[in-house]
Amino acid sequence: MNMLLAKSQIGLDGVPAAETVLSHVDGERGELIIAGEHVSDLAGHASFESVTARLWNGATGRSLTEADIRAALGLARERAFTRLPELLPATRGMSIVDGFRVAVAGLRAEGGLENDATIVGAFPVIAGALVQQAKGNPPVAPDPNTSHAADTLKMLLGHKAEPREVAALDTYLVTVCDHGMNASTFATRVVASTQADLFAAVTAGYCALTGPLHGGAPEPVLEMLDAIGTRERIKPWVDDALARGERLMGFGHRVYRVRDPRADVLKAAIERLAADGADLPFASEVETYIREALRRKNPNRPLETNVEFFTAILLDALAIPRRAFTPIFAVARAAGWTAHAREQQRTGRLIRPSSSYVGRIPAAAQA
Ligand code: ACO
Repeated sequence: MNMLLAKSQIGLDGVPAAETVLSHVDGERGELIIAGEHVSDLAGHASFESVTARLWNGATGRSLTEADIRAALGLARERAFTRLPELLPATRGMSIVDGFRVAVAGLRAEGGLENDATIVGAFPVIAGALVQQAKGNPPVAPDPNTSHAADTLKMLLGHKAEPREVAALDTYLVTVCDHGMNASTFATRVVASTQADLFAAVTAGYCALTGPLHGGAPEPVLEMLDAIGTRERIKPWVDDALARGERLMGFGHRVYRVRDPRADVLKAAIERLAADGADLPFASEVETYIREALRRKNPNRPLETNVEFFTAILLDALAIPRRAFTPIFAVARAAGWTAHAREQQRTGRLIRPSSSYVGRIPAAAQA
């Protein structure tokens, strides 16, 4: 009692809370392993469906194939679309990020579909419908026979995307589908550890994702790039922001002490996409200067580019509205959250840490 904790203890830095076969982050070497493979060997090479199969198989010991997942997600997207009249009314007047939370909380088991597929299939349908709703349009119906990435883009944009755009989104979905014990996965696992169902667990995961210190960062990254505006303004803008004590979005990470490997994977995907609207040279100049400025400001704490910097540029180049970036992150991470919830329920224990009481101690009772 009354023991003050170090900053690292308050944030549980480096404290293992579960055993997992799903993913591993090596922060010193800048490596990310997802279901037994380096992220750079999966992203751009394997589909979201095949990586989801690997995650779900790892969590449950099953042997689902890419084709099984593709069929299950196609069906789940179709089923979710029929539920939109029930899910959307409560989201009217809300931002896309908040509306997504409300609609996700309204999901429930669908007869004949497994909950994991119901959740992962419903996420892009809800995100697409909220984007269309914000434009005053009706939702775009899913196509169960196409890939998850292609259908997600079609529902978001309102038209069929080009193959290179679909490939870029598929690369993104794979790159961020799982990432060790990040805050949203931890939140998911805490809820799953009580044996609450998958819907409750992923709703908690999404809530944790929305903050700017986690999955809420890409929209502010674009706002920062907009605010900087020109090459000449990079140095004064960044120096002023750091002098005011601001955090620069898209930089720094709790675990990585070197560059986040996902940043390079996404940068390469942006180069392959070669979209007209993506000013990668400008973004790269901003990135270079910020890294330099952060090194000067915090020489003892490596602060490198994280995944969110290039997420913002990639999703923007795909013409996805910035207000939908966090729900799109959730579309990908739903694969990881569902796998972690299953793994937690199968192999874990109730997660119930303790706290260090630093409050008032009642006076001893008078004799
Ligand atoms: N810009 C400026 N300074 C920073 C940044 C940043 N992006 N990140 C950390 N610092 C500074 C802190 O101010 C602190 O300085 P101090 O010791 O002088 O007070 C020092 O670096 C250490 O910061 P902590 O808060 O201890 O680092 P923590 O591990 O808690 O933070 C985090 C990790 C939250 C990602 C942080 O780097 C940050 O806020 N980044 C910006 C937001 C962001 O990019 N979020 C997306 C993360 S990736 C993801 O979740 C998918």
